[in-house]
Amino acid sequence: MKVCVVGTGYVGLTTGVSLAFLGHEVTCVDLDQEKVDMLRGGRCPIYEPGMEELLVEAAQNLTFTTSYAEGVPGADVVFVAVQTPSAPDGSPDLRYLRSAAESVAQSLDHEFTVVVNKSTVPIGSGNWVDAILRDSFATRADRPENCEFSVASNPEFLREGNAIHDTLFPDRIVIGSDNPRALEVLNQLYRPLINQTFTPPSFQPRPDDTTAVPLVSTDLASAELIKYAANAFLALKISYVNEIGQLAGKVGADITEVARGIGLDQRIGSRFLEPGVGWGGSCFGKDTKALIATASEYKYDMPIVQAARDVNQRQREIAVERLQSELRILKGRKIGLLGVAFKPNTDDLRDSPALDIASLLVARGARVKLHDPIAGDRFRREYPDMAPHLSDTLDGVFDDCDAIVLVTKWAQYLELDWGKFVGLMRTPIVLDGRNVLDQERMERLGYKYIAMAG
Ligand code: UDX
Ligand code: UDX
Repeated sequence: MKVCVVGTGYVGLTTGVSLAFLGHEVTCVDLDQEKVDMLRGGRCPIYEPGMEELLVEAAQNLTFTTSYAEGVPGADVVFVAVQTPSAPDGSPDLRYLRSAAESVAQSLDHEFTVVVNKSTVPIGSGNWVDAILRDSFATRADRPENCEFSVASNPEFLREGNAIHDTLFPDRIVIGSDNPRALEVLNQLYRPLINQTFTPPSFQPRPDDTTAVPLVSTDLASAELIKYAANAFLALKISYVNEIGQLAGKVGADITEVARGIGLDQRIGSRFLEPGVGWGGSCFGKDTKALIATASEYKYDMPIVQAARDVNQRQREIAVERLQSELRILKGRKIGLLGVAFKPNTDDLRDSPALDIASLLVARGARVKLHDPIAGDRFRREYPDMAPHLSDTLDGVFDDCDAIVLVTKWAQYLELDWGKFVGLMRTPIVLDGRNVLDQERMERLGYKYIAMAG
């Protein structure tokens, strides 16, 4: 099928490259010339394992352009995957989505095109996009006679760092539209994924248990709500284990054992039960906030979702309090933070706990040094004011340091030769922000080990 993807961020790029890999003819449109140039040169503007390899494997079916007129005409499906950042009141800022929809409508010419919202948009946005498309289409002097289009929602569940795996071998595919013909087109588009008939890329073998992928084909509003409800649930699952983790610390229980014990209950499940400084990233914070904002338009409270947010914020504060109660005085202390990215295998810094913890520490007069194996360059670009706090070397972080906080669970930190650095520190305190270091081993190496949770 002929596919156009508007926006080559995490979601758009992964969608475009994966669909091209599956054999569809894909044009990716992005207004950012620099990004398009990079992608044309086979380079990936984001750090995502496997993406550059997949770009090569899918190259013959992939075109990158800044022009809607090159991508939209003739397309069976147009995905819109532009960013939807949070406005100050928590509602998503839909400016980019509006302008993308207007531009798409100016180039539509096919007999039937499905315009798919891939961006996470408030419930009801499908109808809104539909209205924008129709208004913009109606302004065209050159609008073709035999041209129909319909809006659908196809929420994205990929995790950054696992984007290709999650796209090729998803737990489910959700499509929503009030037009059965649009659902049929998407069903066709996703056949190779649903039936798992494609040969996987050389670097990403098919998991043994993936034989077919369930398809949830529903109405527009339900598909839109599924995305929010799923992310809010995952966020509250993590906040839940973090809340229990703090209690575990107080009563002398071991949260690792507790999490294992509850996760083995199949109704609960073991994933997303890892305690620590909490969640960050582009989705959980934004989506929980947006869900609450949508509900408030209906004068409806969502106390559970709000509590998940509050607990998550509190975890960041608890990290600082732990350091304060250990060091007594934070003023003038040097604190090293290992990891700036919101999680491993990405250079994404959005809503990263490290940024908040660093700011809280600086506000209390501490000197902060940050390190990240991958996200350093992006950090310098996006947070120039904080750039002096970044250290390219681990020596620079540990040297004369009063306490280290493991913030991001990068493999490099788990495998670190911790013994080599202990002697550099002024006081060898380590706060395990992800509850992943072996306490006995750390103590043997001479560290004073503090857990985030019990
Ligand atoms: C995605 C989803 O879009 C968002 O709704 C979800 O909540 C998080 O994941 P992401 O892919 O990370 O966001 O967005 P981002 O990295 O900001 O990329 C958006 C891209 O769209 C950028 O490359 C931007 O240049 C491009 N864009 C934006 C356009 O091409 N046209 C526009 O009109 C606006
Ligand atoms: C998430 C959803 O998983 C994905 O389905 C959705 O489409 C987009 O949002 P992502 O933001 O890439 O994906 O990251 P994810 O792997 O879900 O992690 C989110 C955050 O939760 C990270 O900061 C991670 O460190 C934290 N986390 C995750 C925990 O603190 N504990 C856990 O057990 C799992």
